[in-house]
Amino acid sequence: MGIVNEGIEDYLSDILPQVDPVLKEMESRAREQEFPIVGPLVGRLLYQLVCLMKAGRILELGSGFGYSGYWFGRALDELGEIHLTEFSEENLELARSFFAQGKIRCEAHFHQGDGVEILESLEGQFDIIFNDVDKHRYPEVLPKAAARLRRGGLLISDNVLWHGRVVESDPDETTRKVLEYNRLIFEDSNFFSSIIPIRDGVSFSLKQ
Ligand SMILES: C[S@@+](CC[C@H](N)C(=O)[O-])C[C@H]1O[C@@H](n2cnc3c(N)ncnc32)[C@H](O)[C@@H]1O
Repeated sequence: MGIVNEGIEDYLSDILPQVDPVLKEMESRAREQEFPIVGPLVGRLLYQLVCLMKAGRILELGSGFGYSGYWFGRALDELGEIHLTEFSEENLELARSFFAQGKIRCEAHFHQGDGVEILESLEGQFDIIFNDVDKHRYPEVLPKAAARLRRGGLLISDNVLWHGRVVESDPDETTRKVLEYNRLIFEDSNFFSSIIPIRDGVSFSLKQ
């Protein structure tokens, strides 16, 4: 089930300018291989948030071939730093080459392995943590991200409406984990959260 009316979704996509040939190539690749990426509607929002927050240090959990990371990377200047994490070495290598093609200026680190474990192993605090790991891991990410975000930092999670399955009467195990995550972000006094029903639903949790 799509979250947004199909016509509206098409309209929102059609009015966007194509800003970057590398992003265009990544979007074509995602379409051809049916690989899930956040897409330009969410990508542009990520870009704006980096600018608004003047973010300097970003960690991404579940980077695929680097599409969402590329949007973050584009918004960071040469003093910025981004850490991408991904299980697939092959996709991480692609991310590296897209970053090089796009002449992304910030310092970029490409970590192969479990993003949640890498989150715990990295030093220092982050301005933004973007969470796009396997959905059954979402509840586990929340306290770990809270420990590594600066005050005023943002935890962003993709797919929090999970193709509309969050309103099904008999949700499966993965959907139950997404539901649990959504409940936790509003209960957790460390955060002030909101969910935007854009694409597949994105949550924004501000660390207080
Ligand atoms: C939905 S894709 C999204 C990719 C990327 N965030 C984007 O929008 O362009 C999720 C990716 O996260 C990876 N992944 C899932 N769980 C992970 C984990 N715990 N650690 C590292 N990578 C993970 C998967 O291999 C997949 O490539």
